Amino acid sequence: MIKPSKLGYAELLVKDIEGMEEYYSNVMGLSLVEKGDDGKRYFSTGLDHHNIILTPSNESNLFGIGFQLDSQVSILDVKKQLQAKGISAELKTDAEPGISEMLEFKDPDGFVLHLYTNIDTPAPRFKENGIVPNKLGHLALASMDPIKTAKFYQEVLNFYFTDCIDERANFLTCNNDHHVLNVSNLGKLVGQSNLYHIAFELRDASHQYQSFDILAKNNIPIVWGPTRHTAGHNIAAYHHDPDGNLVELFMDMDQLITGLGYFDPRPWHEDFPMKPRYWDDNAAWGTKYEKTLLDYAAKKFQ
Ligand SMILES: [Fe+2]
Repeated sequence: MIKPSKLGYAELLVKDIEGMEEYYSNVMGLSLVEKGDDGKRYFSTGLDHHNIILTPSNESNLFGIGFQLDSQVSILDVKKQLQAKGISAELKTDAEPGISEMLEFKDPDGFVLHLYTNIDTPAPRFKENGIVPNKLGHLALASMDPIKTAKFYQEVLNFYFTDCIDERANFLTCNNDHHVLNVSNLGKLVGQSNLYHIAFELRDASHQYQSFDILAKNNIPIVWGPTRHTAGHNIAAYHHDPDGNLVELFMDMDQLITGLGYFDPRPWHEDFPMKPRYWDDNAAWGTKYEKTLLDYAAKKFQ
C-alpha cells in the first residue's frame, strides 16, 4: 500500500525571488542549503536537504509537493501500484539535488507530486535567528474541485480524511498530524488552482509571541488570528510573504491515534472522543475578523 510518512517539501513558483530568499533566510529562519544554476533556492528547516524550494518564475503559485515514503519501500513497486490505479508516474533519477530517485505525477489540480524514499540529510540544524519553525506543517490547496482532489489523495496515496469545514476545507493526513493537506474550494472560487496557504509548526505559545514580534520588526502584519481553529484545534495566525502567499504559523495541532480513529483528548475538545467530523465554522474561540481567510488568500488573484 502506498502511504507517505511525511510531507517533505513544497516547491513554490516565485515572482520576487530576492524578497522570498530574504524572507525565508532571515524572517522564517530556514537554512539556504543550495542555490542551483537555474536559480532555484533549496531551504532546510533543520535536517533534510530541502523542505522549501523557491523557483524563479513570472507567476506566484505552488508548483509541487514532495512526500517521503518509508525508506524500506521499493520505488519500483510503488510505480507499479500507481500504474494499477491508472496513474502513470515517471521515475526520475538525480532530477533534484539531494534526492537520487523519485516518482513524479500530477494530482487532479495539476500540482506536481514527488514520491521518494530517501533525501540527503546535511542537517544544517536549526538556525538561531528568525522564526525557525519545527517543520513545514501543511499545505492548503486552492482546488478547482476539492471533493475530487480529496478523494484522489485518499484513494491513490491512502491519506486519512480527518475533518471538513462546510465545503470549503477538506483535511487529510498521512501521519498523526490532524492534517498535512487541506484541500479547499478557493481554486473553484477564483477560477484557477493555486496555493491557499502554507503552514509552519511552532513549538509553543512563547514561540508564537516571539514569531509575531519578528514579523512586526520586519513590517509584516498579521492579517488573521491568533485564534484556535475548530478542525485540528491548532492555534494559528496568518500573514503574507513577499510574493503575496498566505502563511500560517501554528502550534497545538490535534494528533490522530490512527488505530483508534480519534484524536488524543485535549481539554478544549468539543467531543469525547474527538473523532473526525463536519464543522460549520473555523474559529473555536468565536473570534470573528473583518475578512475571512479565503478573502486574504484570494488577495493575490486581484
Ligand atoms: Fe492551515
